[in-house]
Amino acid sequence: MPFGNLFRRAWSSEARLDDKTVVITGANTGIGKETALDLAKRGARIVMACRDMEKAEVALKEVTEGSGNQNVVIKKLDLSDTKSIREFAETINKEEPKLNILINNAGVMVCPYGKTADGFEMQIGVNHMGHFLLTHLLIDLIKRSTPARIINVSSMAHTWGTINLDDINSEKSYDKIKAYNQSKLANILFTRSLAKKLQGTGVTTYSLHPGVVQTDLWRHLNGPQAVIMKIVSPFTKTSAKGAQTTIYCAVAPEIETESGGYYSDCAPASCSQAASDEDMAQKLWELSCQMLSVSWD
Ligand SMILES: NC(=O)c1ccc[n+]([C@@H]2O[C@H](COP(=O)([O-])OP(=O)(O)OC[C@H]3O[C@@H](n4cnc5c(N)ncnc54)[C@H](OP(=O)(O)O)[C@@H]3O)[C@@H](O)[C@H]2O)c1
Repeated sequence: MPFGNLFRRAWSSEARLDDKTVVITGANTGIGKETALDLAKRGARIVMACRDMEKAEVALKEVTEGSGNQNVVIKKLDLSDTKSIREFAETINKEEPKLNILINNAGVMVCPYGKTADGFEMQIGVNHMGHFLLTHLLIDLIKRSTPARIINVSSMAHTWGTINLDDINSEKSYDKIKAYNQSKLANILFTRSLAKKLQGTGVTTYSLHPGVVQTDLWRHLNGPQAVIMKIVSPFTKTSAKGAQTTIYCAVAPEIETESGGYYSDCAPASCSQAASDEDMAQKLWELSCQMLSVSWD
């Protein structure tokens, strides 16, 4: 449902997260910040992983004051640089005795062509490769913290996506919308593969579409696209509403034993045929391992 199910009763839960630790990427604004605020209210220790520490300081104040929870910290993480990802993971592995919920939320959308520090096209690099590496580096800690959940914030944009295995970095030709769609499809395929690898470990995985949400994500839209967004804005969600499906995936007890699925409007949802392609999920997994020089098994 592009604009959310207007008629379904809003999901809510009293679930507490006392003694749980949560890492949220891109937590200084938008959906990530609202997720941090909600989970802080539930008593969790929150690590807000942000690339801009000035923005992070401001968001930290909002989250601690809004939740009354002082057990919230900010840490530097730039997903467009594997050095930063490795440094962040090293700090978490050293300083945090447990990690119960990892929320891979950060994202960039339809930006002009650019490359990450490691030469990946920016959207696949940040949205997929960065989170793939981060998850890989934190997985042992997560496995020691069960029951644990890994949540990948995808989008209904995956529906129009295809994975271009021969040119994943769009070096031959770049279409900024296709590159975003590819990265969001990659989020779902990664979630599926991860669920398989983690079977029987007590770690479950979820991907989701948050809705069409009024956030900074739309910053790269051109003039006519921005006008369209303005017209449809009455049907879009606030950041707080847009965070609900992420929060549902993080805390809902009824999905504790489900793994690898796709959710929207706080309920299981159908993803595209391409997002259910196990063969492609495996190929993407192998390509990601190869490009990041990691071995997962
Ligand atoms: N908004 C929607 O309608 C919508 C729809 C479907 C899916 N989503 C997904 O929801 C997620 C959250 O997006 P949002 O709408 O909340 O957008 P947003 O307000 O733009 O937030 C994105 C967050 O990601 C961070 N980020 C970007 N590049 C990064 C990098 N290289 N390293 C670390 N962090 C980085 C941003 O940091 P800065 O503030 O420093 O830039 C920001 O904190 C994204 O994965 C997006 O694809 C959103």
